[in-house]
Amino acid sequence: MDIILERKSIRRYTSEDVRKEDLEYILRAGLAAPTARNSRCVSFLVIKDKDTHKKLAAVHQAAQMILQAPLAILVVGDKNLAYQEYLPQDCAAATENLLLAATSKGYGSVWCGVYSNKERSEAIEKLLKLPENIKAFSLVVVGKSDDNNPPKDKWDPEKIKYEVWE
Ligand SMILES: Cc1cc2nc3c(=O)[nH]c(=O)nc-3n(C[C@H](O)[C@H](O)[C@H](O)COP(=O)(O)O)c2cc1C
Repeated sequence: MDIILERKSIRRYTSEDVRKEDLEYILRAGLAAPTARNSRCVSFLVIKDKDTHKKLAAVHQAAQMILQAPLAILVVGDKNLAYQEYLPQDCAAATENLLLAATSKGYGSVWCGVYSNKERSEAIEKLLKLPENIKAFSLVVVGKSDDNNPPKDKWDPEKIKYEVWE
């Protein structure tokens, strides 16, 4: 539970790398997420190349933090494997798992939205040479945080209802 409440979006990073075993744990956690009918339609593209980071920043205005971070993980879904229309939900569950796993290993991370921005997703799919059936969903930036602000406290009893909505 602490990890869930400690997670926050990090947009300032040090240049420190992500340890290989930590990256593997984060990716393993991502693949452990639920998928509708266990379709396992989600995959990850790990991007460390700085030149590619620059190209991604050029097509994703809200992902400029990628220029500081050591790596980004593109979460993608295979539309040929997905069950019915559940591909976005499957990819979202995997994305959250990546964020939580990164937090648990002492890294900062941020979910940069790709789906359902048509222009952005098409640009990223072209840049990273994704085949037609593989759809870009989110870009998760990971690295050592250079941000000491505490996470937001979002608890709000007004948002909780019981039994019927009244
Ligand atoms: C679907 C989605 C898309 C997002 N896209 C971006 C983004 O492109 N760039 C960014 O800096 N943060 C992005 N975020 C992070 C949100 O801005 C962030 O979660 C929100 O401000 C709450 O802050 P917190 O994550 O620190 O709790 C996105 C989050 C979600 C769920």
